[in-house]
Amino acid sequence: MEQNITNNIKAKNKNIDVLKRHFGQCFDKSGNFDLEKFKQEFSENEIDFYKESYGLDWLGKSYARVLASDPVTTLLKEDDQFNQKEENKVSENLLINGDNLEILKHLSNCYYEQVNLIYIDPPYNTGKDDFVYQDNRNFTASELKKLAGIDEEKASRIIEFTQSKSNSHSAWLTFMYPRLYVAKQLLKEDGIIFISIDDNELSQLRLIMDEIFGEENFVGKIIWKNVTDNNPSNIATEHEYVICYSVNKNKIAPFWKSSLSDIKELLVEKGNELVSKYPDQEELQSQYTKWFRENKNQLGELDRYKYIDKGGIYTGSQSVHNPGKDGYRYDIIHPRTKRPCKEPLMGYRFPQETMNKMIEDGIIIFGKNENKLVEIKVYAKDYTQKLSSVFQLDGRIGANELKELFPSVKKIFTNPKTVKLLQELMAFAGQKDDLILDFFAGSGTTGDAVMRLNLDDGGNRKFILAQLPERIDKKKNKAAFEFVQKELGIDTPTIFDITKERLIQSAKRIQEIDSDLGALDLGFKIFETTSIWEDYELNSEELTSQIKLFDESKLSQEDLKALLVTWKTYDGSPLSETYTEYDMGGYSGYYVNNKLYLINKDFSTENLSILLEKIDSDKDFNPTSIIAFGYHFDSKNLREIAENIKSYANKKNIDIDFITRY
Ligand SMILES: C[S@@+](CC[C@H](N)C(=O)[O-])C[C@H]1O[C@@H](n2cnc3c(N)ncnc32)[C@H](O)[C@@H]1O
Repeated sequence: MEQNITNNIKAKNKNIDVLKRHFGQCFDKSGNFDLEKFKQEFSENEIDFYKESYGLDWLGKSYARVLASDPVTTLLKEDDQFNQKEENKVSENLLINGDNLEILKHLSNCYYEQVNLIYIDPPYNTGKDDFVYQDNRNFTASELKKLAGIDEEKASRIIEFTQSKSNSHSAWLTFMYPRLYVAKQLLKEDGIIFISIDDNELSQLRLIMDEIFGEENFVGKIIWKNVTDNNPSNIATEHEYVICYSVNKNKIAPFWKSSLSDIKELLVEKGNELVSKYPDQEELQSQYTKWFRENKNQLGELDRYKYIDKGGIYTGSQSVHNPGKDGYRYDIIHPRTKRPCKEPLMGYRFPQETMNKMIEDGIIIFGKNENKLVEIKVYAKDYTQKLSSVFQLDGRIGANELKELFPSVKKIFTNPKTVKLLQELMAFAGQKDDLILDFFAGSGTTGDAVMRLNLDDGGNRKFILAQLPERIDKKKNKAAFEFVQKELGIDTPTIFDITKERLIQSAKRIQEIDSDLGALDLGFKIFETTSIWEDYELNSEELTSQIKLFDESKLSQEDLKALLVTWKTYDGSPLSETYTEYDMGGYSGYYVNNKLYLINKDFSTENLSILLEKIDSDKDFNPTSIIAFGYHFDSKNLREIAENIKSYANKKNIDIDFITRY
């Protein structure tokens, strides 16, 4: 079988897969979809095919669709030196340097439906955040006309617009659409995506998300305070949003509970046991305090679970004031000072009778004296914390968190998110062993949050981060530029260098906090996208003409390694998984997940017989596919290998595919 190197590496069209799986009868033998047959599958009242549709259109939408499905123009390269370091060798966390659309496409095979949670914080297109549309596709109008199924005049307008360094809504949508489209394919069926955004593109984002994920899969929108707006505006905007969609809303948990809910069960069980054993309140409290101290590790840093009484363990308190205008007004006498307690501004939430009953039941907490407002105890058994649409977080802590990691740099990154925001989202909406993806990594907050949350709750989450090697502008951020240049020794500082260093520093800080980390994964592996070789005719449709044109003799060992990493990822091996080098009488082949790659030159007949002997004798070596780099073999050679493998496989009654890639 002959294949082209990169033309195969494109994001899958999940919709076609689904249609083929369920409506195979609606495809003809060349794989074309027959809409008329499909319509006949349904009675008229089941689906109204003629309903007017509603959606978002913009100049560039057809181009964006082409971008979502056209093949990659890069290879993936590994940072061997970094990845071989002790702390990174076995890590399953990844940081990938490059344009995220290329990265997502590279990942789209081996991480297809593997990711549990995506968080992204894309450019908001504020007009001040330097967002302009750019890409390196150089389609001609007639190529685009064919690819996008549009007329040539529209194709020319689109090309003109994409080359105009625009930051219009259309430009932003053209940038976001293909990325979101491919990202969705990486999500599991019960997967979810959170996207940070502000008012500049919120409406546009909602509409394309409705289109890509489906309006019925909108989960909710969170607002959170992040800045103090000092601009003279009618309404001071001091918040931004995180919107959330699921792949399939029916598959996600019915409602998200804080991970504290796990602790709740433990507390309720212990509470019941102690309450029934110790009728004396003082003894009860002292036994509980003893148990609490002994189990501090398991209970985490939740000091507030310190109290127990006949209602069990209480987890905190709730105010009894009335949030509206007209609460109930009456006096509550403080039990010790015998004076009326301070009445809340809006009065009480409950009528006096209810309040008296609560006092009688001992669930009201009085302050030291009558000047403190009374509160109600909230017991562990009644405790569930839902993910609320309003986050009471001060977004400015993000900058302080970075300052702690980089004390010598005035401002290493503008507007980082806070670790706390990410931790909340992951703890509520995810599981402890989630694979979490952020393809607009910035300063790496998501990676930091994954490591810290794992530390806090014993989880085993993994992260994949992607970040563009965007140059740091010395004029705009001198401190960051100089830090990367002087302290990290990098001539051309980029944001990627900051992402990487932040993860390293954050891991160090976690080690300082806790020396007993067990199996906590604090390392990460680095990969980068690298342009495909000069002269390699990417868009050549004719494999044979491409083979003739390309001069492989210029390829270095490093180029070949990049090819190997790209192929193994395309063939489904996770990036964190390494290959084993197999010696076959002086020729090195690379083996991973039952695939053997013959990338190097000079594979002889002798090497072939050693290879077959090895398959015979080594029970850990069972290639089901052998993949050769066509340029390093002559056609006679290839025929010979194919025939020998075929007859060997027939003799042994096993399947081995022999694939040649160019
Ligand atoms: C708003 S910042 C993310 C900040 C991040 N959440 C944090 O807390 O630090 C967006 C980041 O996406 C990066 N970016 C923009 N376009 C990209 C692309 N095509 N591929 C990868 N990263 C990109 C920018 O360089 C920037 O660092």
